[in-house]
Amino acid sequence: MPGCPALLTPAHAERIETRLRSARDDELAELLWKLRRRRKVAVQPRAALQQARELELVESSPDTPLRLTPLGAKVSDSLIEYAYWKQRGRRHHWSEEVPALRVESLRGKRILEVGSGAGVNLLSLQRCAEVVGLDLEPLYLQFTEILARLEGVPTPTRVCGVAERLPFQDESFDVALFHGSLPYMRIQHALCETARVLRPGGSAIAIQSDLWQTLGIRVRQRGWNLLSPGVFLREARAAAGMLAYPWMGRVLLEPFAPVHVTGQQMRRWLAQAGLRVNARETCRVSHEVCCVAQKPAAGRDVRVQE
Ligand SMILES: C[S@@+](CC[C@H](N)C(=O)[O-])C[C@H]1O[C@@H](n2cnc3c(N)ncnc32)[C@H](O)[C@@H]1O
Repeated sequence: MPGCPALLTPAHAERIETRLRSARDDELAELLWKLRRRRKVAVQPRAALQQARELELVESSPDTPLRLTPLGAKVSDSLIEYAYWKQRGRRHHWSEEVPALRVESLRGKRILEVGSGAGVNLLSLQRCAEVVGLDLEPLYLQFTEILARLEGVPTPTRVCGVAERLPFQDESFDVALFHGSLPYMRIQHALCETARVLRPGGSAIAIQSDLWQTLGIRVRQRGWNLLSPGVFLREARAAAGMLAYPWMGRVLLEPFAPVHVTGQQMRRWLAQAGLRVNARETCRVSHEVCCVAQKPAAGRDVRVQE
């Protein structure tokens, strides 16, 4: 993100941590969330606004309305994840709804979260498993450390790197988890790398919405705004970019835009990577699909289950 420091200085990180220790941290997260979603901030919680300004997370001038700084955008992502995590009882995403993500299914496993962001899933999963978080954004990884300190728990192991070239040995994990992160990656490459680092019998668990769900959601969200030429063109470009992605890659997509593919395409790529879809464990959760695929145990053939 242009203009955003890769890392917070130790002094800045300490100031943010000190602010978050105050009881008003959720107000700060809410303010940043509204600005992130470009919602109007009519009645501003004064303390939160002052904190956000002091921490260089928001800016405004006589001519421009209040908005997030590039640093504020990243910090807001982390604080929003943290606020949701606390709201769901400090549990990892879908830990109750998806059988493959239940604590009993993951206990004692070596888990890699690919695209771990601020690391809230890691904070929960490390209670029952050995976890490693990987993300390309050093600032998010730094936030995992801040959140762990706030929670008074050990800082999970984090590695800065990319999913398309995982800096881990072959067959070194039992589970690779993608929570909402696969759409930001070069999907085929990330899946091949996942297959490489999984042990025979290990599982890849990927949660995201599929192409048709995503397009439906976007149309519903835009509603009548779709009649405005600017919005229509943007949405048409995003839809065309996603439809063409399997053949053209990210050529038609905005940089960093998420890409969603059909379930069928996903199964094809999983099979090509050497992973076998587990139809029994794959399920829908809310507006997303949790796709579970296994690396066959040594000596077994690779076949896709439709
Ligand atoms: C939507 S966030 C999900 C964060 C986390 N999994 C969660 O559930 O809170 C997606 C994350 O994937 C990371 N990411 C995107 N592309 C990546 C890549 N190619 N390699 C590694 N991480 C990536 C982003 O930096 C971001 O932190």
